[in-house]
Order: sequence, then C-alpha cells, then structure tokens
Amino acid sequence: MSNYHIKNLEEYFQVYRKSVRDPENFWEEIAEENFLWRKRWDKVVEYDFSKPEISWFKGAKLNITENCIDRHLYTHGNKTAIIFEPNEPSQPAENITYQQLHERVCIFANVLKQQGIRTGDRVCIYLPMIPELAISILACARIGAIHSVVFAGFSSTALHTRINDSDCKMVITSDGSYRGGKTIDLKSIVDEALESCPNVEKVLVVKRINSEVKMKPNRDVWLQPLLDSAPIDCPPVLMDAEDPLFILYTSGSTGKPKGMVHTTAGYMVYTAYTFKNVFQYRENDVFWCTADIGWITGHSYILYGPLANGATTVMFEGIPSYPDFGRFWEVIQKHKVNQFYTAPTAIRALAKERLDFSAEYDLSSLKILGSVGEPINEEAWHWYNDNIGKKNCPIVDTWWQTETGGIMISPIPYSTPTIPTYATLPLPGIQPALMDENGNELKGNLVSGRLCIKYPWPGMARTIWGNHDRFRETYFSTFKNTYFSGDGALRDSTGYYRITGRVDDVVIVSGHNLGTAPIEDAINEHPAVAESAIVGFPHDVKGKALYGFVILKETGEGRLQENLRKEINQIITEHIGPIAKLDKIQFVTGLPKTRSGKIMRRILRKIAENDTSNLGDISTLLNPECVEEIIEGSIQIQ
Ligand code: PRX
Repeated sequence: MSNYHIKNLEEYFQVYRKSVRDPENFWEEIAEENFLWRKRWDKVVEYDFSKPEISWFKGAKLNITENCIDRHLYTHGNKTAIIFEPNEPSQPAENITYQQLHERVCIFANVLKQQGIRTGDRVCIYLPMIPELAISILACARIGAIHSVVFAGFSSTALHTRINDSDCKMVITSDGSYRGGKTIDLKSIVDEALESCPNVEKVLVVKRINSEVKMKPNRDVWLQPLLDSAPIDCPPVLMDAEDPLFILYTSGSTGKPKGMVHTTAGYMVYTAYTFKNVFQYRENDVFWCTADIGWITGHSYILYGPLANGATTVMFEGIPSYPDFGRFWEVIQKHKVNQFYTAPTAIRALAKERLDFSAEYDLSSLKILGSVGEPINEEAWHWYNDNIGKKNCPIVDTWWQTETGGIMISPIPYSTPTIPTYATLPLPGIQPALMDENGNELKGNLVSGRLCIKYPWPGMARTIWGNHDRFRETYFSTFKNTYFSGDGALRDSTGYYRITGRVDDVVIVSGHNLGTAPIEDAINEHPAVAESAIVGFPHDVKGKALYGFVILKETGEGRLQENLRKEINQIITEHIGPIAKLDKIQFVTGLPKTRSGKIMRRILRKIAENDTSNLGDISTLLNPECVEEIIEGSIQIQ
C-alpha cells in the first residue's frame, strides 16, 4: 500500500489513522516516495504553536521547479504540461510541453537575473491568465526569488499597498488583458500604482493586446526582446526547505491585507499529495481548475500541485459567459477535460442560464468535479451533479484557505462519500477540532463550533510577511496550541464536516475573501461620509453580497443620495477593485454600538438578511433607538 495514492475507503481509514498516530513517519514516506531532494532533511517536522514556529523537512535542499519540470523531462518531455486556452475561442489553444516549459522558464529566469533579481528578492507579478504568468512564477522559483502575485482585477491602490508591503523590486505586467469582449489597460494601473512605490526598479511588460502604452525610460522594458536574447541554460538554485517560495495576500477582518508566506518543501509536498488524491489524478488525465492564478487555488491547483505530479493542466484566459454561457462546457469538450474544479458562484451563475448551453457539449470525458471557495448550496450541488457530472462524477467539496496552502477537508473520490453541502472528512495528516467560545474542544459528534486544526501540516503558511505578531494573534491566540481558521463548522452524527461560514468580519463574495474593515476604510475617505459598517447578506449567485450602512456628515436627499451611492462604489473600486462594490447602501443616522463603542455587526447582519424577528437583547446598546430606524430604512432597500 502506498500512502501517496488512496484508492478505497478502507485504505483511507488506514492511512488516516497512521497519519495521526505517527505524522512524522507518514509525511516522511510521502516525501521519500515522490520528489527530487538535493539533500535529505534532518527533521521531518518541528513546531511550537505558541510562538508560532513551524518547520517541515528542515535541512533539506531542493528546487521546486526541478520537481515540477526537470524531473519529468526524462520520461515525459513531450507531454503537455500546460494547455493555454485563450479568451477568444477562435484563437488556437497553445500546448506547452514539459520540454518547452523548461526552456521558457529557464530563459525567463535568466532575464530576471540580467535585470538584477537575486535569490530572496521579491517580484510582484500582475498579469492576466496567459502563459507568461505561469512561466514568470516558475522563473522566480527557479532562482529563489519570492513571487508575490497580485490578482489582475485589483486596483492600483490595492496593487501599490501589496508592492510596498513586501518591498518588491520588480513588477511583471502586460500592456493589457482581455476580459470577454472587453480589454483592460493593465499597464496604466501599474503606472499609477508605481507613483507610490519608490523601490521598484524595473517593470517587465508582456505584449498581450497590442495597445499603445507609455514606457518609462530606465524602468519599463518590453519582455520579448529580453527573452529573445537570453541564454537557455539556467541551473536551478538550491533552496532550503524553509526558504520562502511566495507571498500571497489575503484580506483580514481588520487592517491591511496579510501577506501569507509559504515556504518551499512543505508546500510542494502538500500540494502534490492533495492534488493526486482529491482529484485522483492518473497519467494522461487533463485537469482544469478555473480559478485565476492570482488566488491560492490557482497557485496550488493550476500550477504547483499538477506540475509536481507531471500532469496536464489547463490555463483559461477567458470568462464563463463569453462568448456565451456555454464556454466552460465547450472548453471541457475541446480538451477532453477529466477533472473540473470551479467555484459555487460560477455554478450558480451558469445554473441560471438555459440548460442547452451545457447539453450542447460532450462532457463525457469528465470523471471528477470539484468545488472550492465558499459553501456550496444544495441546489447548486444537484445542478452540478445532474447536468455536468450526469450523476456519474463524484463532487469534491474542498475546504481550505490561502493560509492552509492546500485542500484540508474534502471527499476523496471512490474512497470517502460525497454528500451535498458537506466537505466530509479531513485528508490524511489533518487533525480538525471544533471549539466552543470558551476554548474547549467539542468532542464527539453532532456538535458545531469554531473550526481549528490541532497539528501542523506541511502546506501551512509560516508567517505574515513583516508581521509575525499578527500571524500569532490572528491564527494562534484565540485557542491555545491550535490553528484557528476563522470558519465555523458542524460535525454530523457520522463525523462528517460541514462548513457553515466565516465567524469573523470577512465576507466571501463570489468566492473572494473580502475583509469588511478595508472596505469601510475606503468609504470613510469620501468627504461626505462620517462612518460606515459593512456586512454580508445572502445572494443567489454571489453566495454573499455586501450591504453598507453609511452615516453621512450631512443627510442628502433623493438624487444626491443616488450620486453618493455611485461615488461610494467608485471609491471602493479605486481602493480595492470592482469585486468589493456594495450591492446595497443604506444611509442611516446611527449605528448600533456597545457601551465600549464597538459596532454590533450581529444586529446589522440580521437586518441585512431581512431577519429582524430575533435581534437578541439590544437593551445593553449605547443607542438602542437607532435599531428601529435602521430596520425601517432597510425595508426600502430590500
Ligand atoms: O470561509 C472559507 C471559504 O473560503 C475561505 C478561504 O478563502 P481564501 O483564503 O480566499 O481561499 C479560497 C480558496 C481555498 C475559508 O475560510 N471556503 C473555502 N472553501 C470552502 C469554503 N467554505 C465552505 N466550503 C468550502 N469548500
């Protein structure tokens, strides 16, 4: 029996028990069986959650690109590593073999070196879903530069905050990007951002849409001529197991975004292992994850996990609605996709459209369907199961986070059961616990509480870039000696987990993790706004949408209020990006506060959900009278 590839329920339980009884041995066997190590580790795991300090495979030396690319060349050089499917269906797809990927990554890595990038430097990548995105990430990893990918839908303010937070020396971007029938001028967003980034020395620009862009002398360089003249040979730099591989920002419930730091060996082992098992990947399968590489899902399951397994992975530049709502299904048919991994928000949006969009295409290549990013509701689960999987493809509802690096709780197809709305069982090596508010672990079944993980796993983030205290505070201080995820969950009578959603002030909108505090900070910059509070409310496509309660300095009427609504959303778009726009904005004269001045979001949440029958005790509020007014005002907004 191999730990690395679980094939039935009995094996799952055996492997799981072993992984809990002897985690070191369990992970050691996996690491030994599958990877190319230039020096073996001295210790599999060391950890102290009180600090927190966590290390995996300490003392080992490796390069992740050697594992994701070079190692496959001898046996699979001509196999397709990446299928690039462009935005326009009439444009040809590009198949990049492992051999070609190797060449392109090495050449790109040489360009990085020529342009002054050294091991340990941070490089910000702000690119659309084109091959250069994958290649530049891997090129950084080749030379041990730390990549920080910023999703190319983020605004210039969001971009400069992230560039400065990790002190990036270089930005890699493109003239623009395609988004369905539109183009987006990425380079000018970068230009604006860089006005506030004094330490960026170089900007490499990929030509994608052939638009006119301004190039700043001595700073901006077109990429292609550099690639054309760079040497092809680039030996991988050997990294320590715990050297940072990348930084990826995620929203916190307060303050600025958190630059989660993932390190080399543990992340590699964990993404590879989870990819292989959750998607039951077999040689010659074609795997497609529809996420953007700007999010952790794309890092782990478009790039690192699949490539570490020598898989063929699809990279899609387009959107599900262009040129029509059949696009996903057309791509599945065209590339004979075997595993398809997407978000509930996409499923819900597509389920609203005519069924013939999916019925027109041959989806018989599909073996496994996946869901990620937010709870999947029962209706969407069944639509996915019936119309896309034709009741023949197990659906893996995968729970995890930017912080966890890889999938944590999920069915393993053909081994563990799939149940609508349940992420079901922890993967081997993962020890979940549910806690009550007083920090006691809730033992047994039929309990619900805060979802924590009691033991380290190789893929977990090690710190927040530049702010280790915040890392400890956020994840390791709520409950002693456990990682706290920020999610709530229940464990049913058979021990299966169902994720019930965030228990903090993060709202998941269309699968995007949005902290409400940074949005409130943005709104409060509007000269007419005195104070604001944002909460989530259920939305039939986005899962959750945002509802803003806003106090104005002077109350405006009718038209003025309408203009203000637009301006507020404009300010949010500028500070964060269009994904954080508010669906509903209610102007109020007061916000419910505790005597210590804290906004009682619980009450606002209930009002936004239109569930005012049970607001709980409001008599202890500083200003209970405002609640009635807010309820009345909300009726006009609903
Ligand atoms: O609330 C959980 C939700 O998404 C959060 C993590 O967001 P992010 O770091 O952006 O990573 C998303 C992709 C891994 C979690 O705290 N979430 C993620 N997957 C699920 C989920 N909620 C319910 N079910 C899931 N399968």
